Amino acid sequence: MRLLKTGAFVRQARSARICTSYTLAAQPVCPPSLQYSRSIPHSQTPATIRWSSTQTVTQPFPEQSVPPFREVDPSKTATQSSSPTSDDTAFKEHLQTIGKESKIVHESGKSGSLILGKPYLFDQTTNVPQSILDLVGRNLYDNPDHPLCITRKLIESCFPSPEFNHFIQADPVVSVHDNFDVLGFPKDHPGRSRTDTYYLNSSHLLRTHTSAHQHAAFKSLAPEDGSVTSGYTICADVYRRDSIDKSHFPIFHQMEGAKVWALDGDISQTRYNRMLSRTQKIATDLRNLPQTDFLVTEQNDNYHPETNPIQEEHDKKETVLLARHLKRSLEFLIESIFRAAQSASNQTTSGNAPIKARWIEAYFPFTSPSYEIEVEWNNTWLELLGCGIVQHPILNQAGLREHVGWAWGLGIERFAMLLFGIPDIRLFWSTDPRFLKQFSQGKITQFEPFSKFPACYKDIAFWIRSAPASSTPVNSNLGSSGVAAAAGGDATKASPAETQPAAFHENDIMEVVRDVAGSLAEDVTLVDEFVHPSSGRKSLCYRINYRSLERTLQNDEVNALHDEVGKRMVGLHGVELR
Ligand code: PHE
Repeated sequence: MRLLKTGAFVRQARSARICTSYTLAAQPVCPPSLQYSRSIPHSQTPATIRWSSTQTVTQPFPEQSVPPFREVDPSKTATQSSSPTSDDTAFKEHLQTIGKESKIVHESGKSGSLILGKPYLFDQTTNVPQSILDLVGRNLYDNPDHPLCITRKLIESCFPSPEFNHFIQADPVVSVHDNFDVLGFPKDHPGRSRTDTYYLNSSHLLRTHTSAHQHAAFKSLAPEDGSVTSGYTICADVYRRDSIDKSHFPIFHQMEGAKVWALDGDISQTRYNRMLSRTQKIATDLRNLPQTDFLVTEQNDNYHPETNPIQEEHDKKETVLLARHLKRSLEFLIESIFRAAQSASNQTTSGNAPIKARWIEAYFPFTSPSYEIEVEWNNTWLELLGCGIVQHPILNQAGLREHVGWAWGLGIERFAMLLFGIPDIRLFWSTDPRFLKQFSQGKITQFEPFSKFPACYKDIAFWIRSAPASSTPVNSNLGSSGVAAAAGGDATKASPAETQPAAFHENDIMEVVRDVAGSLAEDVTLVDEFVHPSSGRKSLCYRINYRSLERTLQNDEVNALHDEVGKRMVGLHGVELR
């Protein structure tokens, strides 16, 4: 589930009253919008972008160990790994000596991998395939001439230092605790499921969002005399099992930002008075934010008591100011990006076509109230980012006991596709000089397609199993290339949170296709679905569109790939091909 899907999900959830992966809301109808517009002559905005003003810290945050932020029943905690045996320790040492980075190793009945110098032992929860591990460590955001890095720098420049520190987190392996528990994700949250998330084992996974580092980043802001730094941004690669199409890839890049305000004034004053001057400070900072020039609509009720409440610990007036500061800061970011995209694509605003945006209510376990913004671009509303007022216990646990603050998170690819006119997310991973040579540091230029190679689509139809089979150990699920089976289609213990894995999950076929065809798979769509009237068995038919971005694929090559997809679907997910 993607950050960028959240707006649609919230709206669906509102009408259907369902919980979704990263979002959850139960408000029946979207309240009417309140429009406001501030027209400032365009020549005054946006502020100059200081491309090279940002210093990015690439050191990892220190190891962390904190309890989940709400009282969690220990029996419901997801992270339960059994203590290692001496065999396990020996195998981990062995992984370190063979030194083949990110290769899945199977030996003497054990499996594991060395990832960025750290050994991980696989277990029943493992579902990360070799094809994903092969992409770990590319650090696309750190290559100055890569569109993702250029976009990161543009975003960082809207949150300048020394007020903001800029962090990069290269190691994608985090604990289940840091990715979910500490942020207050309920134990049955779908984001934890093995159908959505890549697990290395029951305690570690490939982070699904940069918020996995929120606690450590907030700790880095813990009060220090004379420090003017009150915020940060984090950039990292994140991993989610998802559909295959031109805007989804299992690895993408996120940025996250936050800013906090401490109680203000002399400690001899009462806490209440210090809070009042903190509120004053937020109001002053709000007035000093750069002006923007676009048309923004907001919902009437930004603080719905049930679906988007102001936290108990917070003062209403202060939260209103904080939320305004958050939204104005992000409007400035959005405007900077969209103006850059408009001038790169020669779409002038002709002075009278302001960018249109709208704020909507959202849900994240670690912020309340929460929002996301959608922007109109080429006649469609794009969901761009999620944000909110940081949950009080998160700041508390990071040692920020006298603070309030906001946080936001966004997917960099979505902005970069828009800025550079890049039509397919797979291109970001291209090593083809015809792609890479087109971009250079600090410049936003339109991507020139080097050629369009023919697509070749093939259908795969199969009967799915009607019920989960019995538990199978991970080693017996390994495919011909040593791929650990995906979750859902088998009944190995799912995420620690899942007790009843589904017989078939769409992400299973996505994973097989990705593992077999890699970036040669352009999209995979369900084209037919029916239930046999007498046997009650269900049949599905998926269309796989094979296309290389760099060359023409040969028929034999595509046939071989497609046959392998069929074999793996049978072997790993027990389907019957039709
Ligand atoms: N981590 C969230 C996601 O990936 C985004 C987010 C970050 C939302 C920070 C609010 C605050 O969906």
